[in-house]
Amino acid sequence: MISKQLAEALNTQMNFEFDSANLYLSMSAFAEGKNYPGAAHWFRKQVHEEQEHAMKMYKYLVSVGEKVTIKGMPDPETEFAGYVDLFKKALEHERIVTSRINNLIEIAQANKDFAANSFLQWFVDEQIEEEENLNNILDRLALTDNSAISIVMMDDRLASR
Ligand code: FEO
Repeated sequence: MISKQLAEALNTQMNFEFDSANLYLSMSAFAEGKNYPGAAHWFRKQVHEEQEHAMKMYKYLVSVGEKVTIKGMPDPETEFAGYVDLFKKALEHERIVTSRINNLIEIAQANKDFAANSFLQWFVDEQIEEEENLNNILDRLALTDNSAISIVMMDDRLASR
């Protein structure tokens, strides 16, 4: 049986994943406005990933007999300093998610909840990929000191995600 502490923490993280989707949709809208269709597309794909993450937690809570509580979302950030800043902010956000997932695992392990611990391992692997993708984008841009041409080339590349 899942502890109340862990169920609440998972419910909070589920809502945070929906907040993440909203943040990435806001980043996509910003990119649309600046005529970066590749980044706009890339962040829209990210929106769907975050919704899937939230729904995995939703389904897990249901499967262990817990009530799911959907909370209101805070307004996402809407203004960014530019193309590179979008990805820097996204990486900062993913690092926060990673630490939150680690915290959930600490709670699961302290509660000897082996099922929840196993469930959460998927998110550990996912966070490695999430951070790696963003680091790769930022590293590629940094190779040419974030030049205009590298941004245009990156944007073309991101359109094919
Ligand atoms: Fe669901 Fe991007 O962390």
